[in-house]
Amino acid sequence: MRITFAASEGVPYSKTGGLADVIGALPKAIAAQGHEVSVFLPRYKHTRLQQERVAIPNLTIPFRDFLLFPQILDGGKHDGVQFYFVDHPEFTFRDGIYGDAGGDYGDNAERYSMFCRAVIESSKRLGVPHVFHVHDWQAALLPVLLRSVYAYDSSFDHVATVLTIHNIGYQGVFPSSTMPKLLLPWSLFTLDRLEFYDQVNFLKGGIVYSDFVTTVSRTYAEEIRRPDYAFGLSDTVLKKGNRVIGIVNGVDYGEWDPENDRYIAARFSSADLSGKAKCKAALLAEYGIPKERSNWPVVGMISRFAAQKGFDLLEAALDELVLEEMVLIVLGTGERRFEEMFRSLHYIYPDRISVKIAYDNRLAHMVEAGSDIFLMPSHYEPCGLTQIYSMRYGTVPVVRATGGLEDTVEQWNPATRKGTGFKFTGYDAAHLRSGLREALAVFQDRTAWKQIMLNGMRQSFSWKEPADEYLRVYEQARALHP
Ligand code: ADP
Ligand code: GLC
Repeated sequence: MRITFAASEGVPYSKTGGLADVIGALPKAIAAQGHEVSVFLPRYKHTRLQQERVAIPNLTIPFRDFLLFPQILDGGKHDGVQFYFVDHPEFTFRDGIYGDAGGDYGDNAERYSMFCRAVIESSKRLGVPHVFHVHDWQAALLPVLLRSVYAYDSSFDHVATVLTIHNIGYQGVFPSSTMPKLLLPWSLFTLDRLEFYDQVNFLKGGIVYSDFVTTVSRTYAEEIRRPDYAFGLSDTVLKKGNRVIGIVNGVDYGEWDPENDRYIAARFSSADLSGKAKCKAALLAEYGIPKERSNWPVVGMISRFAAQKGFDLLEAALDELVLEEMVLIVLGTGERRFEEMFRSLHYIYPDRISVKIAYDNRLAHMVEAGSDIFLMPSHYEPCGLTQIYSMRYGTVPVVRATGGLEDTVEQWNPATRKGTGFKFTGYDAAHLRSGLREALAVFQDRTAWKQIMLNGMRQSFSWKEPADEYLRVYEQARALHP
C-alpha cells in the first residue's frame, strides 16, 4: 500500500510536542511492514536537512488575491520513509512554528491551507497514494479540499483519507472571511460541515470529510464524544459513529531507553539499576539542588505549560505538598503565568523546587532518567508520551486517570504486586495530593518500589501493534473507495 503522511511537525526536523514524536516513528513502523510511505512536513527556519535536493521547483497554489509558488524539497529516504518538505520561506522562516510571544501567527490559515494544497498537488507529480493520513488541524483541510475543490479530479477517485486527532483542544478556528480568501466554496460553510459559531473550523472539516478518524488512545476516543472533553465538537465526533477509533501511541525506544541513551550520566537497565543513582545526582546538580536532598524522592515534570497539563491543580496542591520530603524538578515552556509560578516557587523553596524554562531535549532525557516519580496531573491527555518514556527509565508515573494516562498506566496493587504507577481521578488538589502521597509512602518501602520500577521498565509500547491497527483502518477506509 502507498501511504502519504501530512503533518505540521516531525522529529528530527521540527517539534513542539508529542505529535512530532509520532510522526518520527509511526511512518517507519508502517514502512517496516513493506509499505511505501512518504511524509510531508513544512520546512521551518530550524529544520535541518542533510541535502537540499529540489523535487518540484515551483507549485502554483491559488488564493483569492494572489498565487504562491512553494517548492518541494526531497529530504531523502530514512528508515524506509521518503521525506518531502514544503518550502515557502515567507511562511516559515520565523522563530516559532505556530506563533511567538505575541501569540499565534495571524496568517496560520493561509500557511496551513497552502501546506495542504501543496501536498495534494505534489502527489499528482510524485505519486498519488492509496491513503492520505493527515494529522491535527494543520493538515485537516486536506480531506476537505480533496472532496470539494478536487472532487472532479479523477486522479483522486480511489484515494482514502484518515485523520488522526492528537489534541481536540486545538482546532484551527478562523473568521468566516477566511473561506473566500482560501477559495473554499461557501457551500462548505454549514453547521454540518466547516461552520462553527459563525467561524470556520479546520479540524471540524477534517472530521466530517475524512473516511476515518483516529485518536491516540482508547479512552480519549470515548472522551471526545462528550461535551466536557470535545471543545464544542462532541456532536461532530458522535455523528461519525464507529468511524472514530482509538489507537494508543507507541514509543521509539531507539530514542527513549536508558540502556542506550546518549544524553544521560550513566546507562542502566532492569538488569542493572545502579546507573540510575548517578543520573539522579547529575539531575540534582544540573538543577542546583543540594546533595543532601538526594535521599528524598525527586518528582519530575516535562511539559508544555498549558492549562491542559494541570498546573493550576499543582499550584493549589503545593501549599501542603511542599511540607513533604520531596524535590520537585520541572522542565517546560509555555504560558507566562505558569513560568512565573514556578520561578516564584523556586525563589521560596530553593532547596526543594527547581525549574528550567527551556525547550531542551537533552534535559528532557535527564529528567526522565534522574527522577524517581514522574508527575502528570493533566486535565485531559489524548495519549501522553512522557509517562510512557518514564516507565522505561524506572521513573514511576503519578497521573490523573484521563485519556492515554488511564490506558497506559496501571495502578499499583500491593496485594498482587502488579501495577506500574499511581492514578487519581478527581480534578482537584485533594485528589492530586492523595495520589502523590500514596506514591511517596510506597517509596519508603524499597522492595515494593523496586517492584513497581521493574514492572514499568518491562512494559513495551512498541509501534508494531499500533502500526498494525492503523493498517487495518487504512484497509477499511480504502474499501469505501473501490
Ligand atoms: P504533548 O504532545 O501534549 O506536549 P506528550 O507527552 O505527548 O505531550 O509529548 C511531549 C513531548 O515533548 C515529549 O517528547 C517531551 O519530551 C517533549 N517536551 C515537552 N516539553 C519539553 C521541553 N520543555 N523540553 C524538551 N522536550 C519537551
Ligand atoms: C498531543 C497530545 C498528547 C499526545 C501527542 C501525540 O500533543 O496532547 O497527549 O501524546 O499529541 O499523539
